[in-house]
Amino acid sequence: MNVLDIKDLKIIFRTGDGFVRAVEGVDISIREGERVAIVGESGCGKSVTGLSCMGLLTTPPAYVTAREFTFVSRNGEKHNILEKTENEMLRLRAEEMAMIFQDPSTFLNPVMTIGEQLDEVFVYHMGLKPKQARERSIEMMKKVGIPDPEMRAMQYPHELSGGIKQRILIAMATSLSPRLLIADEPTTALDVTIQAQILNLISERCEKEKMSLLMITHDLGVVREMADRVYVMYCGKIVEEGTVDEILTSPRHPYTKALIDTVPGMDEKVERFVQIPHNVPHPMNKPQGCYFSNRCAYCTELCRTKQPPLYDRGNGRKSRCYFRPEELWEK
Ligand SMILES: Nc1ncnc2c1ncn2[C@@H]1O[C@H](COP(=O)(O)OP(=O)(O)OP(=O)(O)O)[C@@H](O)[C@H]1O
Ligand SMILES: [Mg+2]
Repeated sequence: MNVLDIKDLKIIFRTGDGFVRAVEGVDISIREGERVAIVGESGCGKSVTGLSCMGLLTTPPAYVTAREFTFVSRNGEKHNILEKTENEMLRLRAEEMAMIFQDPSTFLNPVMTIGEQLDEVFVYHMGLKPKQARERSIEMMKKVGIPDPEMRAMQYPHELSGGIKQRILIAMATSLSPRLLIADEPTTALDVTIQAQILNLISERCEKEKMSLLMITHDLGVVREMADRVYVMYCGKIVEEGTVDEILTSPRHPYTKALIDTVPGMDEKVERFVQIPHNVPHPMNKPQGCYFSNRCAYCTELCRTKQPPLYDRGNGRKSRCYFRPEELWEK
């Protein structure tokens, strides 16, 4: 059964300079217990996609539409996220779906202790009394590997390291065992040595609580560790999708291949750092044909003039490219 079903998601921002088409007709589905990643370079629409699932984009400036935007809660009830009121979303968030972000500092209240902030989750959503709530908070802090939780509970966010703050946010996000956890670049702001620990913690929490995971990242290394299936996004569109194993070993889209080639050691044939030429186009100045055409080593006249559809390549694989790998790099 699917936890999330999104069809033809479009997200447009109204700005002083005109309309920005951040997401242009994206389909995403996540099964119960599945770990799914969205990967792509900066500005391709990953975060706004995640925020739209949580109902966290405000209109204006954001205009969100979809043919379907269904979230199925634990009791089997289907929710159209686009039709929920703010109060209904407040309940769904935390109890059924939760999100962790790149920078934990911005989501912690600087004038409340860590314990008070964790307690709130249990008081508000479970109606616990303060003393019981604190017991649950301490228990949660232990679960996310925070040493000396009784002492930590009395500290303020500025007294904690980035790694501990991210653990606290993971504790808050997963304390009510939501069905879906969305993690948006949860380790990019952290020390490299801490990154693996936090990713392991997220995996462990997902497994224990049987949560589905939507991992948002620009890092294929993270995708390889954290996901079963992946959507490769470029300029607001899905350009390739499939299982992580298949996509990393036999990419079908030149953008995916280029992303793999930028990670040293991902493909043993590529030894040095490789860059994708040029930058992601400005969202108001996307190429006329395939959005990747101006950076693609295999671009043809057709690619420059006509946008390719997302071809079904069988076995759950899709690719938005006119060509097959054997016609391009596997020649
Ligand atoms: N509030 C906003 N107003 C106008 N445009 C916005 C707003 N939020 C996002 N955008 C635009 O939407 C597009 C997608 O942004 P998004 O933050 O989803 O990118 P991303 O893939 O998460 O990138 P990054 O890896 O840098 O986090 C970008 O072009 C961005 O400029
Ligand atoms: Mg982002």
